[in-house]
Amino acid sequence: MTIAIYPGSFDPVTNGHINLIERAARVFDHVVVAVAMNSQKQGLFAVEERLDLLHAVTGGIAGVEVDSFEGLLVDYVRRRGARVVIRGLRAVSDFEYEFQMAHMNHKLYPELETVFMVTGADEFYISSQLVKEVARLGGCVDGLVPPAVRDALSAKFRGARGT
Ligand code: PNS
Repeated sequence: MTIAIYPGSFDPVTNGHINLIERAARVFDHVVVAVAMNSQKQGLFAVEERLDLLHAVTGGIAGVEVDSFEGLLVDYVRRRGARVVIRGLRAVSDFEYEFQMAHMNHKLYPELETVFMVTGADEFYISSQLVKEVARLGGCVDGLVPPAVRDALSAKFRGARGT
């Protein structure tokens, strides 16, 4: 059974992530969507909130599990008995960081393979960062994130604006 770990911040999960998760689930026996906990980086959503949203939007995809991890990704991947990490590539601008990370992870865990999947043609311009900015400034995020995430974003920013 091939287990693939799909790590990320998922702050929050977007339609780009979901497209990738659906496609990965068709290729691998089991896909673990793993939210990285990073005490140095304050996200908009708490890790628990990100996990709840991921559970809500991936619940219908067979073979997908949602989890979180702290510390090095390679240690988590080893613990899970996996050797495959999936990452999405949107554009050339993603490449340098992804290339460095794949080599670093390979150095730390030589049996590990990073498998890159290109983001869907309709989602390549979507990033959690941009979605948050659009939502914060009151723009429409329909089609960029699932309805549950849209509602969670609007609750966050409504709270922040006190409206
Ligand atoms: O969604 P992101 O922010 O691009 O995901 C980056 C992530 C979480 C995959 C990366 O920062 C990571 O693996 N963090 C865990 C800590 C770690 O292993 N760092 C060394 C990476 S070479």
